[in-house]
Amino acid sequence: MSDDTLHLPLIHSVLEREKDTPGALLPILHAIQDGCGYIPDTAIPEIAHALNLSLAEVHGVISFYHDFRTTPPARHTLRLCRAESCQSRGAEHLAAQLREQLLLDDHGTTADGSINLRPVYCLGACACSPALELDGELHARITPERLRQLVSGCLEDGAC
Ligand code: FES
Repeated sequence: MSDDTLHLPLIHSVLEREKDTPGALLPILHAIQDGCGYIPDTAIPEIAHALNLSLAEVHGVISFYHDFRTTPPARHTLRLCRAESCQSRGAEHLAAQLREQLLLDDHGTTADGSINLRPVYCLGACACSPALELDGELHARITPERLRQLVSGCLEDGAC
């Protein structure tokens, strides 16, 4: 669990710099997410006060744009390809394995914050299906055993 108050100096610095800019809310939200990794709860009243908005207005904008996160990012991001070529070569079996191993649906973050799981629809590696991307690195011709190794590495030591 993170201590959101640690982010207050950065939040105040962003607000001081941006609050008088026309249309400041989106640049402020992006700057806070870039600096903190997400939009901490403590930022909401600070932003609302600085821009003379209601809390609901700030929440509404954050929830409208799917790029904004309100929880810290997972340490690893795993995107399993679910498009046609990968499907025909075992991706659905791999997806079922991930659901079982991570106790997640097809997307979400593990309770310990170690892995964020997301489907993706073609990684451009169809000739080497099934494929996945882990922390931006492509892994092709994935077998159930290789998938288990990759995931276990992320869960055990936080590094892949
Ligand atoms: S369909 Fe999976 S990489 Fe193209």
